[in-house]
Amino acid sequence: MTTMASVLDAREFRNACGGFSTGVTVISTRCGQGDHAMTANAFMSISLDPPLIAISIAGTARMLPRLRAAGAFAVSVLREGMEDIAWHFAGRPRLDGPAPFAELAGLPVIGDAASIFVADVHSEVAAGDHVIVIGHVHSMRRDPQARPLVFHGGRFASLPEVA
Ligand SMILES: Cc1cc2nc3c(=O)[nH]c(=O)nc-3n(C[C@H](O)[C@H](O)[C@H](O)COP(=O)(O)O)c2cc1C
Repeated sequence: MTTMASVLDAREFRNACGGFSTGVTVISTRCGQGDHAMTANAFMSISLDPPLIAISIAGTARMLPRLRAAGAFAVSVLREGMEDIAWHFAGRPRLDGPAPFAELAGLPVIGDAASIFVADVHSEVAAGDHVIVIGHVHSMRRDPQARPLVFHGGRFASLPEVA
């Protein structure tokens, strides 16, 4: 069992956080500099009424100034088998052809994603080396049959079949 004291070790902290399984999303936006997309697993639903979501973006990410300029962003929840898209938008280019963008409510999105949220920026919270951006969702789309891409312990995985 890891003790509280060792939580202060950066690598241990990162590894412990990686033990929390998540889905994988691609955050995207459109501003004067063009379209931009970034892989992120720090995504959560915040409020049902009004419909709010949150993402956490590194202060160094090129996404941050672009998203601020746009005042809006989209979240595409990746489906099983979309590992190449996840790596591609995490700065490790994997796709040979053009990025598989479609458009929803005026923003680029991953066309075949499991679900897609489009939001206006509601507020920001500075948090250490990241910025938490809260968005007010005004458009969405979802495929109820889609199986999710999962991220756990630094690896991509699929959910086992559930009865
Ligand atoms: C599975 C996965 C999840 C990630 N989640 C986040 C995240 O939630 N927030 C973040 O700022 N970066 C995250 N990253 C890292 C960014 O995708 C990466 O730094 C990206 O190159 C930043 O793009 P940009 O600087 O062009 O905007 C994640 C990377 C991977 C592979």
